[in-house]
Amino acid sequence: MHGKMIVIEGLDGSGKATQSQLIFDELKKNGKDVKKVSFPDYMSDSSALIKMYLNGEFGHDPGDVNAYAASSFYAVDRYASYKKDWGSFYDNGGIIIADRYTTSNAIHQCSKLQKEKWDEYLEWLFYYEYEQLGIPKPDMVVYLNVDTQVSQKLMTERYSGDETKKDIHEGDLEYLKRSSVAADYCCKKLSWSRIECCSQGVIRSKADILGEIVDLPKFQEMFYKK
Ligand SMILES: Nc1ncnc2c1ncn2[C@@H]1O[C@H](COP(=O)(O)OP(=O)(O)OP(=O)(O)O)[C@@H](O)[C@H]1O
Ligand SMILES: [Mg+2]
Repeated sequence: MHGKMIVIEGLDGSGKATQSQLIFDELKKNGKDVKKVSFPDYMSDSSALIKMYLNGEFGHDPGDVNAYAASSFYAVDRYASYKKDWGSFYDNGGIIIADRYTTSNAIHQCSKLQKEKWDEYLEWLFYYEYEQLGIPKPDMVVYLNVDTQVSQKLMTERYSGDETKKDIHEGDLEYLKRSSVAADYCCKKLSWSRIECCSQGVIRSKADILGEIVDLPKFQEMFYKK
């Protein structure tokens, strides 16, 4: 009897860490056995290639590392953390809340490919990570949709106005826009639960967004149905 997994997905600065923590608190409060994980696992050596990539060591344009190579960097980082940190907890029935997951590859790497290649890539990706590497397939994916201008502003605020702190993904607006189109495609194709986090160009409150997630029938069924 393995556990359950919910993934919080979204573009850069969309509130994934914030909502992951709030969902964690919510489930804990209700007596659930829950663990929060976050990807990339920057504290682990397994993220070395991702760091090299995001620092621009393979080229400053995200496209300098092709979708399949970059996906591999992120996939093995997840595999390592599954083996070392949370696999046995999940295998024994625990609930995992993941801030980003395989689904982040779907969004960020599709954006490097022509649209006609997306289905082929997605098929490869999910087969590779969930079947061949054998890491868990999530039961639910929540996609936080935030207007690009709003998330850019939130990120700049977080870096206290220092634009140079942004990595090669975060600093590339065109890339972000393409990722956003890819994310819309994935949301529909893969039936992710999409949350509109902005209302009239302004971010909704953290509690408001959490409330909508918790009220989703899928969420209720997954965690609270007897
Ligand atoms: N609903 C909200 N209202 C106002 N500020 C928010 C909201 N959600 C998140 N923030 C703030 O926006 C910033 C980005 O949020 P957070 O770190 O949760 O996003 P993230 O998706 O994890 O970002 P990244 O992709 O860079 O890891 C943080 O400073 C956070 O406090
Ligand atoms: Mg984050």
